[in-house]
Amino acid sequence: MIETLKKAKIVVLISGSGSNLQALINACETGHLNAHIALVISNRPQARGLARAERAGIKTQVIDHQDFIKRADFDKELARSIADYSPTLVVLAGFMRILSADFVDQFASRLLNVHPSLLPKYPGLNTHQRALDAGDNEAGATVHFVTTELDGGPAIVQAAVPIETHDRVEDIASRVLVVEHKIVPLAAHWFIEGRLNLRAGAAELDGTPLPIQGYVFRSSKTTSHHNSQIPSSV
Ligand code: GRF
Repeated sequence: MIETLKKAKIVVLISGSGSNLQALINACETGHLNAHIALVISNRPQARGLARAERAGIKTQVIDHQDFIKRADFDKELARSIADYSPTLVVLAGFMRILSADFVDQFASRLLNVHPSLLPKYPGLNTHQRALDAGDNEAGATVHFVTTELDGGPAIVQAAVPIETHDRVEDIASRVLVVEHKIVPLAAHWFIEGRLNLRAGAAELDGTPLPIQGYVFRSSKTTSHHNSQIPSSV
């Protein structure tokens, strides 16, 4: 109990499979992330990530966006539930809703999102299809601070993966997920250790503004999909 009190508190928002949530759970369990996940909220009752949270003994809540006529009312309910826990950090881990400016303002500077592209390329949906259509030879993911601009907040960390000949969207998606599972816990770790800040609209790591694409993460082959580790060198 005393240990729990010393740890940072994270609230994670999901919509789907929750594999990024799992990476965060693993990082908390192995001690790579000095935090505990206080609550997982899904906007979809069927999200598979809810079962992952329950298995890990984490409290879950469903706030189904379909129960709300107005987007603002959904956002208010969501904000109320999160605020009850006074989290250090809120992570959007595959959370597929656009959030209103009021919501973003309420949690400004402690709201992270993972996006499956090498931002600023391909904000929005269907990122892998768009990369294929453009003939790109790499895809990737970016963790960024959330601002009112869709997928446009300052980038924190980015990881690229190759696009191989004959790749389909699913091939790229699963390759990208592997790196997401590394950079999501890494960004959360930096934030919780106080090394990462949003200052005057820019992401800073260890007091130095990050470049437009964020810290460029280079994957180590020893880290497997299911065993996300935070590299000690960063
Ligand atoms: C991730 O690729 C994320 O970038 C995108 O949706 C996917 C969610 O995966 N927005 P999961 O639910 O964490 O498994």
